[in-house]
Amino acid sequence: MAMVCLSDFEAHAKKHLPKIAWDFFAAGADDCITRDENILAYKRIRFRPRMLRDVSLMDVRTKLLGTEISFPVGIAPTGFHQLAWPDGEQSTARAAKVMNVCYIASTYSTCTLEEISTAAPGGLRWFQLYIHRNRAVSQQLVQRAEALGFQGLVLTADLPYTGKRRDDIRNGFRLPPHMKLKNLEGAFEVCKNEPILLDPSVTWNDIYWLRSLTHLPIIIKGILTKEDAELAVRHGVQGIIVSNHGGRQLDGGPATIDALVEVVEVVKDRVEVYLDGGIRKGSDVLKALALGAKCVFIGRPALWGLAYKGEEGLQEVLRILQAEFRLSMALAG
Ligand code: FNR
Repeated sequence: MAMVCLSDFEAHAKKHLPKIAWDFFAAGADDCITRDENILAYKRIRFRPRMLRDVSLMDVRTKLLGTEISFPVGIAPTGFHQLAWPDGEQSTARAAKVMNVCYIASTYSTCTLEEISTAAPGGLRWFQLYIHRNRAVSQQLVQRAEALGFQGLVLTADLPYTGKRRDDIRNGFRLPPHMKLKNLEGAFEVCKNEPILLDPSVTWNDIYWLRSLTHLPIIIKGILTKEDAELAVRHGVQGIIVSNHGGRQLDGGPATIDALVEVVEVVKDRVEVYLDGGIRKGSDVLKALALGAKCVFIGRPALWGLAYKGEEGLQEVLRILQAEFRLSMALAG
C-alpha cells in the first residue's frame, strides 16, 4: 500500500492495531465534539494565495527557543508508545533526531528518560510534566530530564483530572502487564488508567515552584484563551502551546486553530506560541503559521507512523508532512 498522506497511516493503524489500542489513541472526551472540531476548523479556513513570487528556493527551517529545526513541525507528547511499536519512545526519539525536529517526551512514556536519551543522543527533546501530589516525584523527574540534556520543560495545564473517554471505559483500558510507566515506577500507581496521584490543586504559582527547580525554559501546554496566555507570560514562561489535548479533556472547547488567533494577539511576540491538535496536512501547518504559530506539533499522526513501521514509519509521516508543507508554501506564494 502506497502511503500518500497522513490519512493513509490512520487507516493502516485502525486496521492493524488491537482495537483497545486504536480506541485509546483515537479517543476524545464525551461526544468528541472538540476532537473533531480541531480538524473541521482547518477545512473552513481559506488562503489568499499570491502569484509570481519566485518560489524556486524555499527554506523551511526555523528555530525553537533558539535551536534550529528542519521545518516547523514537532512531536507532541503522547503516552504509551509501546502500544504502537515494541521499541516505543526509543523509536520516536530516533525518528525525531533523523528528521531534526523536536520531540516532547511524555511523563507517561513506556521507556525511561535514560533509554530515550541513549536511543538518540544529541536530539532536540523537551520533557512534558504532569505534576504529582508527591512533589518530590515531579522534582526528581524534572531534574533527571535536565541532567539528561532535555532542553525544555513542558507543563501540561489541562489535565487536573482525566477527561471522560467512553471507549476506554467500555474497553476497561489499561496498560498490558508487560508495559510500564517506567519513569514513575515505584512512585505511582495506575488504577483503571486513572493516575491517582496527579495533583488537581496546581495553580499559576506552581510555575514559580518549577522555576526554582530548573534552569530549563518552561513551556505551558493547554492554553486556549487570551486571559490565560497573558497569565502565562506574566508568570515568566518562555513558550505557550495552544492545545486542547487533542479533544481528550473538556469537550465543547474551541478548536485550537480558532483559539490561536486571540492568544497570538495578546502575546505580541513576548514569548513563542505553538499549537497542536488536528494537524493532518502540510496546508494545515501553513494555516497555523499564517495565523501566528511559530511551530506546530502532531500527536496521533506520530502514533500512526510508529504503528506502521516504527521509526521508519514516523520518519515517513514527517517527510510527507514536510513535502506537503513546502508545496503549500510554494503554491500560496
Ligand atoms: C495525548 N496527549 C498528551 N498530552 C500530554 O501533555 N501528555 C500526555 O501524556 C499525552 N498523552 C496523549 C496520548 C494520546 C493517545 C493522545 C492522542 C494525546 C495530547 C497531545 O500532546 C496533543 O495535545 C494532541 O494529541 C494533539 O492533537 P492531535 O495531533 O492528536 O490531533
